[in-house]
Amino acid sequence: MSTMSIRKTFLPFALPSISEEAIEEVANTLRSGWVTSGPKVKQFESLFADFVNSKEAISLNSATAGLHLCLEAIGLSENDAVITTAVTFTATVEVIGYFKAQPLLTDIDPITNLMTIETIQSLVEKECKVTHGNLIHKKTNKVVKAIIPVHLAGHTCDMEGIIEFAKKYNMYVIEDAAHAFPAIHKGKMIGTWGDFTVFSFYATKGITTGEGGMVTTENHKMAERLRRTRLHGINREVYLRPGWYYEVTDLGFKYNMTDVAAALGVVQLKEANYFWNRRTEIARTYRRELQTIPGLKLPVEDENGAHSWHLYRMEVDPNIARVNREKLVLELHKRNIGTSLHFIPIFEHSYYKNTYNYFKEDYLNSAFMYERILSIPLFAGMTNEDVKDVINAIKDIV
Ligand SMILES: Cc1ncc(COP(=O)(O)O)c(C=O)c1O
Repeated sequence: MSTMSIRKTFLPFALPSISEEAIEEVANTLRSGWVTSGPKVKQFESLFADFVNSKEAISLNSATAGLHLCLEAIGLSENDAVITTAVTFTATVEVIGYFKAQPLLTDIDPITNLMTIETIQSLVEKECKVTHGNLIHKKTNKVVKAIIPVHLAGHTCDMEGIIEFAKKYNMYVIEDAAHAFPAIHKGKMIGTWGDFTVFSFYATKGITTGEGGMVTTENHKMAERLRRTRLHGINREVYLRPGWYYEVTDLGFKYNMTDVAAALGVVQLKEANYFWNRRTEIARTYRRELQTIPGLKLPVEDENGAHSWHLYRMEVDPNIARVNREKLVLELHKRNIGTSLHFIPIFEHSYYKNTYNYFKEDYLNSAFMYERILSIPLFAGMTNEDVKDVINAIKDIV
């Protein structure tokens, strides 16, 4: 029997790192009298565009809003379909549903858990046909208009392959980069590969603004559209409006980021490289210390660039390890260590199953992953002691 050591305080699987400088910046914004979208939003967008080397950056109150506005900007309709992955957060797929368009889900690669050209091809061969150069979903007769690759956990998808595939069939590429800030793919930062890239600044992400999101694009016209649709379709931004006149030129939404959030973002952005390096260091320590434990399959480095290490997802093989995933969760919890699961596959959720009739049998790798996957704590603010506690607890249990 092992002697179980228990942490004094609970270690959650993720926590934001908020510096005193960030608190001061937010306080200054609160004191300034301008708390909604204004100068801080402008500054944050400009710094963010510089960071990822994009021409345009449009801030929003969430990544979900960003995905929604991108699909709106490409004119998605109920006659269309969109390809994405079965292993993602509901936000990626729900936005397709907003337009009554058909989400087509690929299975995943067993190692990276990403959509790949192979998983896309296998979906297309089974469910689509080519008509006039477009992909058509056979069952619904809808035109596949876009593809949303998801850089799950911060491991980048094969962007060259996906963009080439999309070009061949007249599809837009909208990257779900909620997990991929910052990340590098083939020497270029995530943010300039697809037609649009959508980032999240939710509390647990690479940087946070509490809630928030950013779309980057190289397309000036699309950027202008997003700037209007994020705020009621109004053609002039409040902050820059000298007089009372404005015009509503589009059906818009209320998706703008506040200066309070952007003030936090401006400082988080300065600290982003430090956070990234620290997460990378912790991920490498986990690999060094856990790789010899039988029955644990650890996440791999991104061979095409630099992983953001937003999450540390590992698989527990119940046939080899001393415990299964459920037991490991419970035992870690007893030792005051939090875990999470990324993700319950889309086809497992009752809403999606009932609405689109997905069959688990079409997603064998995703279903296999779902039985075994577990996310252990990984965030920049973890101390070396925290990291050691997680490693020792896993060694003790598994
Ligand atoms: C893969 C993925 N896409 C999109 C989102 C949505 O991000 P937000 O909460 O900023 O809308 C999330 C949020 O966790 C996510 O994990």
